[in-house]
Amino acid sequence: MHRREFLLKGATAGAGFLASTGLQGQEGSGSSNSGEVVIISTWPFGKDANQAALEILSSGGSCLDAVEKGVMTAEANPAIQSVGFGGLPNRSGVGELDAAIQDGRSFESGAVCALQGVRHPIQVARAVLNHSPHLVIVGEGAREFATARGFGVEETLSDKAKEAYERWVKKNPGKDGPAEGHDTLGLVALDSTGHICAACTTSGMAWKHPGRVGDSPLLGHGLYADDQAGGCVATGDGEEITRVCGSFLVVEKMRQGATPEEAISDTLDRIAQRSPKGSNVHASFVAIRADGVSGAGSMRQGFHQAVTRSNETKVITVPAHIESTRK
Ligand code: GLY
Repeated sequence: MHRREFLLKGATAGAGFLASTGLQGQEGSGSSNSGEVVIISTWPFGKDANQAALEILSSGGSCLDAVEKGVMTAEANPAIQSVGFGGLPNRSGVGELDAAIQDGRSFESGAVCALQGVRHPIQVARAVLNHSPHLVIVGEGAREFATARGFGVEETLSDKAKEAYERWVKKNPGKDGPAEGHDTLGLVALDSTGHICAACTTSGMAWKHPGRVGDSPLLGHGLYADDQAGGCVATGDGEEITRVCGSFLVVEKMRQGATPEEAISDTLDRIAQRSPKGSNVHASFVAIRADGVSGAGSMRQGFHQAVTRSNETKVITVPAHIESTRK
Protein backbone atom coordinates (compact mmCIF):
# COMPACT_ATOMS: atom_id res chain seq x y z
CA MET A 1 0.00 0.00 0.00
CA HIS A 2 1.04 3.55 -0.70
CA ARG A 3 2.76 4.83 2.48
CA ARG A 4 0.75 8.03 2.58
CA GLU A 5 -2.57 6.24 2.08
CA PHE A 6 -1.66 3.88 4.89
CA LEU A 7 -0.87 6.66 7.32
CA LEU A 8 -3.85 8.77 6.32
CA LYS A 9 -6.16 5.94 7.35
CA GLY A 10 -5.47 6.89 10.94
CA ALA A 11 -5.30 10.62 10.45
CA THR A 12 -8.04 13.08 11.17
CA ALA A 13 -8.69 16.03 8.91
CA GLY A 14 -7.70 19.30 10.54
CA ALA A 15 -10.25 21.87 11.52
CA GLY A 16 -9.51 25.34 10.15
CA PHE A 17 -7.59 27.70 12.35
CA LEU A 18 -9.45 30.96 12.75
CA ALA A 19 -7.28 33.82 13.86
CA SER A 20 -8.99 36.99 14.88
CA THR A 21 -6.18 39.50 14.96
CA GLY A 22 -3.68 41.31 12.80
CA LEU A 23 -5.03 40.82 9.30
CA GLN A 24 -3.42 43.92 7.82
CA GLY A 25 -0.20 43.45 5.91
CA GLN A 26 1.91 44.02 2.82
CA GLU A 27 0.37 44.33 -0.59
CA GLY A 28 -1.10 40.99 -1.60
CA SER A 29 -1.26 39.59 1.93
CA GLY A 30 -5.07 39.36 1.85
CA SER A 31 -7.04 37.00 3.99
CA SER A 32 -9.24 34.08 3.28
CA ASN A 33 -11.31 31.74 5.31
CA SER A 34 -13.78 31.19 2.49
CA GLY A 35 -12.17 28.41 0.53
CA GLU A 36 -9.99 30.69 -1.60
CA VAL A 37 -6.89 29.08 -3.07
CA VAL A 38 -3.70 30.88 -2.01
CA ILE A 39 -0.25 30.07 -3.42
CA ILE A 40 2.96 31.80 -2.39
CA SER A 41 6.55 31.27 -3.46
CA THR A 42 10.01 32.75 -3.38
CA TRP A 43 11.61 34.97 -6.05
CA PRO A 44 10.21 36.23 -9.34
CA PHE A 45 10.72 32.80 -10.89
CA GLY A 46 8.09 31.63 -8.42
CA LYS A 47 5.49 33.17 -10.71
CA ASP A 48 5.64 30.29 -13.21
CA ALA A 49 5.63 27.83 -10.33
CA ASN A 50 2.50 29.39 -8.81
CA GLN A 51 0.74 29.31 -12.15
CA ALA A 52 1.59 25.65 -12.69
CA ALA A 53 0.38 24.87 -9.16
CA LEU A 54 -2.83 26.83 -9.74
CA GLU A 55 -3.54 24.88 -12.93
CA ILE A 56 -3.30 21.62 -10.99
CA LEU A 57 -5.63 22.84 -8.24
CA SER A 58 -8.08 24.40 -10.72
CA SER A 59 -8.37 21.12 -12.57
CA GLY A 60 -9.13 19.19 -9.39
CA GLY A 61 -5.59 17.95 -8.72
CA SER A 62 -4.22 17.41 -5.24
CA CYS A 63 -2.34 19.96 -3.18
CA LEU A 64 0.77 17.73 -3.15
CA ASP A 65 0.65 17.46 -6.95
CA ALA A 66 0.28 21.22 -7.16
CA VAL A 67 3.39 22.03 -5.12
CA GLU A 68 5.41 19.29 -6.86
CA LYS A 69 4.45 20.32 -10.40
CA GLY A 70 4.81 23.97 -9.44
CA VAL A 71 8.47 23.78 -8.45
CA MET A 72 9.31 21.51 -11.41
CA THR A 73 8.98 24.60 -13.65
CA ALA A 74 12.16 26.08 -12.17
CA GLU A 75 14.00 22.73 -12.12
CA ALA A 76 13.55 22.57 -15.89
CA ASN A 77 14.57 26.17 -16.60
CA PRO A 78 18.28 26.46 -17.55
CA ALA A 79 18.17 30.24 -16.99
CA ILE A 80 17.77 29.77 -13.21
CA GLN A 81 21.23 29.21 -11.76
CA SER A 82 20.19 28.13 -8.27
CA VAL A 83 17.74 25.32 -9.01
CA GLY A 84 17.69 22.11 -11.05
CA PHE A 85 19.22 21.91 -14.53
CA GLY A 86 20.49 25.51 -14.54
CA GLY A 87 21.89 25.23 -11.01
CA LEU A 88 25.60 25.81 -10.39
CA PRO A 89 27.70 22.85 -9.26
CA ASN A 90 29.77 22.07 -6.19
CA ARG A 91 33.50 22.80 -6.04
CA SER A 92 34.26 19.55 -7.87
CA GLY A 93 32.05 20.64 -10.78
CA VAL A 94 29.26 18.21 -9.94
CA GLY A 95 25.61 19.24 -9.68
CA GLU A 96 24.12 18.12 -6.36
CA LEU A 97 20.42 18.87 -5.95
CA ASP A 98 18.28 19.10 -2.82
CA ALA A 99 14.48 18.96 -2.67
CA ALA A 100 11.68 18.26 -0.21
CA ILE A 101 7.91 18.09 -0.14
CA GLN A 102 5.51 17.98 2.81
CA ASP A 103 1.83 17.33 3.33
CA GLY A 104 0.42 19.50 6.12
CA ARG A 105 -2.47 17.16 6.91
CA SER A 106 -0.70 13.81 7.24
CA PHE A 107 2.73 15.32 8.11
CA GLU A 108 4.17 12.93 5.57
CA SER A 109 7.24 14.25 3.80
CA GLY A 110 9.98 13.16 1.46
CA ALA A 111 13.38 14.65 0.75
CA VAL A 112 16.53 14.03 -1.21
CA CYS A 113 19.86 15.69 -0.55
CA ALA A 114 22.96 16.00 -2.76
CA LEU A 115 21.23 14.01 -5.48
CA GLN A 116 23.28 13.66 -8.66
CA GLY A 117 22.08 12.84 -12.16
CA VAL A 118 18.34 13.48 -11.88
CA ARG A 119 16.89 16.72 -13.25
CA HIS A 120 13.74 16.79 -11.15
CA PRO A 121 14.78 16.11 -7.56
CA ILE A 122 11.32 17.11 -6.34
CA GLN A 123 9.86 14.09 -8.15
CA VAL A 124 12.33 11.86 -6.33
CA ALA A 125 11.41 13.56 -3.03
CA ARG A 126 7.75 12.84 -3.83
CA ALA A 127 8.66 9.22 -4.53
CA VAL A 128 10.37 9.07 -1.12
CA LEU A 129 7.14 10.37 0.45
CA ASN A 130 5.01 7.91 -1.48
CA HIS A 131 7.08 4.77 -1.50
CA SER A 132 9.81 4.79 1.14
CA PRO A 133 9.57 4.18 4.88
CA HIS A 134 12.21 6.93 5.24
CA LEU A 135 11.83 10.69 5.09
CA VAL A 136 15.27 11.71 3.79
CA ILE A 137 17.65 9.90 1.44
CA VAL A 138 21.03 11.41 0.54
CA GLY A 139 23.78 11.21 -2.05
CA GLU A 140 24.50 7.91 -3.76
CA GLY A 141 21.64 6.29 -1.86
CA ALA A 142 19.26 8.88 -3.27
CA ARG A 143 20.46 8.17 -6.79
CA GLU A 144 20.10 4.42 -6.25
CA PHE A 145 16.59 4.99 -4.94
CA ALA A 146 15.76 7.17 -7.96
CA THR A 147 17.05 4.71 -10.54
CA ALA A 148 15.24 1.85 -8.80
CA ARG A 149 12.03 3.90 -9.10
CA GLY A 150 12.63 4.33 -12.84
CA PHE A 151 14.17 7.80 -13.01
CA GLY A 152 16.67 8.09 -15.84
CA VAL A 153 20.16 9.37 -15.09
CA GLU A 154 20.74 12.53 -17.13
CA GLU A 155 23.10 15.45 -17.49
CA THR A 156 22.09 17.87 -14.77
CA LEU A 157 24.41 20.78 -15.58
CA SER A 158 23.39 23.24 -18.27
CA ASP A 159 26.08 24.57 -20.64
CA LYS A 160 25.90 27.92 -18.86
CA ALA A 161 26.46 26.25 -15.49
CA LYS A 162 29.50 24.40 -16.88
CA GLU A 163 30.91 27.64 -18.30
CA ALA A 164 30.36 29.41 -14.97
CA TYR A 165 32.24 26.59 -13.23
CA GLU A 166 35.17 26.88 -15.66
CA ARG A 167 35.34 30.64 -14.98
CA TRP A 168 35.26 29.98 -11.22
CA VAL A 169 38.06 27.40 -11.43
CA LYS A 170 40.21 29.89 -13.40
CA LYS A 171 39.76 32.40 -10.58
CA ASN A 172 40.10 29.73 -7.86
CA PRO A 173 42.62 27.18 -9.14
CA GLY A 174 42.73 25.60 -5.69
CA LYS A 175 38.92 25.21 -5.83
CA ASP A 176 38.81 26.78 -2.39
CA GLY A 177 36.85 30.00 -3.05
CA PRO A 178 33.82 30.74 -0.91
CA ALA A 179 30.44 29.20 -1.66
CA GLU A 180 27.97 31.70 -3.11
CA GLY A 181 24.27 32.14 -3.86
CA HIS A 182 21.34 30.11 -2.61
CA ASP A 183 18.11 31.19 -4.24
CA THR A 184 15.86 28.28 -3.37
CA LEU A 185 12.45 27.98 -4.95
CA GLY A 186 10.05 27.33 -2.10
CA LEU A 187 6.30 27.16 -2.61
CA VAL A 188 3.35 26.84 -0.23
CA ALA A 189 -0.20 26.17 -1.42
CA LEU A 190 -3.46 26.38 0.50
CA ASP A 191 -6.22 24.61 -1.40
CA SER A 192 -9.95 25.33 -1.29
CA THR A 193 -10.47 22.77 1.49
CA GLY A 194 -7.93 24.39 3.80
CA HIS A 195 -5.23 21.82 3.09
CA ILE A 196 -1.63 23.10 2.99
CA CYS A 197 1.42 21.58 1.28
CA ALA A 198 4.94 22.90 0.78
CA ALA A 199 7.88 22.12 -1.48
CA CYS A 200 11.45 23.34 -1.90
CA THR A 201 14.05 22.71 -4.57
CA THR A 202 17.59 24.03 -4.97
CA SER A 203 21.07 23.28 -6.24
CA GLY A 204 22.24 24.77 -2.92
CA MET A 205 25.19 27.10 -2.65
CA ALA A 206 27.34 27.31 -5.73
CA TRP A 207 30.87 25.91 -5.23
CA LYS A 208 29.80 24.23 -1.98
CA HIS A 209 31.77 21.39 -0.42
CA PRO A 210 30.59 18.12 -1.99
CA GLY A 211 27.87 16.68 0.20
CA ARG A 212 26.99 19.99 1.85
CA VAL A 213 23.28 20.26 2.61
CA GLY A 214 21.49 23.52 3.45
CA ASP A 215 18.07 24.19 4.89
CA SER A 216 15.94 23.53 1.82
CA PRO A 217 15.45 19.75 2.00
CA LEU A 218 15.21 19.67 5.80
CA LEU A 219 11.79 19.62 7.40
CA GLY A 220 11.31 22.53 9.77
CA HIS A 221 14.22 24.44 8.29
CA GLY A 222 13.58 25.10 4.60
CA LEU A 223 9.88 24.20 4.73
CA TYR A 224 7.11 23.30 7.12
CA ALA A 225 3.39 22.80 6.66
CA ASP A 226 0.64 22.12 9.17
CA ASP A 227 -3.01 22.45 8.13
CA GLN A 228 -3.83 23.57 11.69
CA ALA A 229 -1.42 26.51 11.69
CA GLY A 230 0.03 27.35 8.25
CA GLY A 231 2.92 26.75 5.91
CA CYS A 232 6.28 28.42 5.38
CA VAL A 233 9.29 28.11 3.08
CA ALA A 234 12.70 29.75 3.25
CA THR A 235 15.47 30.93 0.98
CA GLY A 236 18.90 32.25 1.89
CA ASP A 237 21.94 31.14 3.89
CA GLY A 238 20.99 27.57 4.69
CA GLU A 239 23.30 27.32 7.68
CA GLU A 240 21.71 30.37 9.32
CA ILE A 241 18.12 29.33 8.60
CA THR A 242 18.82 25.84 9.93
CA ARG A 243 20.38 27.25 13.11
CA VAL A 244 16.95 28.49 14.26
CA CYS A 245 14.64 25.89 12.61
CA GLY A 246 13.37 28.85 10.59
CA SER A 247 10.26 27.54 8.83
CA PHE A 248 9.06 25.61 11.87
CA LEU A 249 9.51 28.70 14.02
CA VAL A 250 7.41 30.81 11.63
CA VAL A 251 4.64 28.21 11.62
CA GLU A 252 4.67 27.88 15.41
CA LYS A 253 4.39 31.64 15.80
CA MET A 254 1.43 31.69 13.40
CA ARG A 255 -0.13 28.91 15.47
CA GLN A 256 0.08 31.24 18.46
CA GLY A 257 -1.78 33.96 16.53
CA ALA A 258 0.96 35.99 14.87
CA THR A 259 0.37 37.15 11.32
CA PRO A 260 2.78 35.67 8.78
CA GLU A 261 4.67 38.97 8.66
CA GLU A 262 4.96 39.15 12.45
CA ALA A 263 6.06 35.50 12.62
CA ILE A 264 8.68 36.04 9.92
CA SER A 265 9.87 39.29 11.47
CA ASP A 266 10.39 37.56 14.83
CA THR A 267 12.22 34.73 13.10
CA LEU A 268 14.51 37.15 11.27
CA ASP A 269 15.24 38.78 14.63
CA ARG A 270 16.08 35.34 16.03
CA ILE A 271 18.45 34.66 13.14
CA ALA A 272 20.20 38.00 13.65
CA GLN A 273 20.52 37.28 17.38
CA ARG A 274 21.86 33.74 16.92
CA SER A 275 24.13 34.15 13.92
CA PRO A 276 27.77 35.17 14.26
CA LYS A 277 27.03 37.35 11.21
CA GLY A 278 24.25 39.21 13.03
CA SER A 279 21.86 40.74 10.51
CA ASN A 280 24.44 40.41 7.74
CA VAL A 281 22.70 37.24 6.62
CA HIS A 282 20.64 36.40 3.56
CA ALA A 283 17.38 34.97 4.85
CA SER A 284 13.86 35.37 3.47
CA PHE A 285 10.61 33.56 4.17
CA VAL A 286 7.13 33.40 2.66
CA ALA A 287 4.20 31.97 4.59
CA ILE A 288 0.47 31.35 4.55
CA ARG A 289 -1.48 31.14 7.79
CA ALA A 290 -4.24 28.53 7.97
CA ASP A 291 -6.90 31.22 7.54
CA GLY A 292 -5.35 32.28 4.21
CA VAL A 293 -3.48 35.39 5.33
CA SER A 294 -0.09 35.36 3.62
CA GLY A 295 3.09 37.34 4.08
CA ALA A 296 6.80 37.56 3.45
CA GLY A 297 9.89 39.01 5.04
CA SER A 298 13.53 39.35 4.14
CA MET A 299 16.62 40.35 6.08
CA ARG A 300 17.86 42.27 3.05
CA GLN A 301 16.53 44.19 0.09
CA GLY A 302 16.18 42.47 -3.26
CA PHE A 303 13.77 39.70 -2.34
CA HIS A 304 10.42 39.19 -4.10
CA GLN A 305 7.46 36.98 -3.32
CA ALA A 306 5.09 35.57 -5.94
CA VAL A 307 1.52 35.49 -4.62
CA THR A 308 -1.52 33.94 -6.27
CA ARG A 309 -5.04 34.88 -5.16
CA SER A 310 -8.30 34.96 -7.09
CA ASN A 311 -6.54 33.21 -10.00
CA GLU A 312 -4.14 36.14 -10.38
CA THR A 313 -0.40 35.95 -9.72
CA LYS A 314 1.63 39.01 -8.73
CA VAL A 315 5.34 39.36 -8.04
CA ILE A 316 5.73 41.73 -5.11
CA THR A 317 8.87 43.44 -3.77
CA VAL A 318 9.52 42.59 -0.12
CA PRO A 319 11.03 45.43 1.93
CA ALA A 320 14.14 44.75 3.99
CA HIS A 321 13.58 43.70 7.59
CA ILE A 322 13.88 46.30 10.32
CA GLU A 323 14.74 44.77 13.65
CA SER A 324 11.54 44.39 15.56
CA THR A 325 10.70 45.76 18.96
CA ARG A 326 8.04 43.07 19.38
CA LYS A 327 8.69 40.78 22.31
N1 GLY B 1 18.93 27.92 1.11
C1 GLY B 1 19.58 27.03 0.27
C2 GLY B 1 20.87 26.56 0.75
O1 GLY B 1 21.48 27.15 1.64
O2 GLY B 1 21.34 25.57 0.22
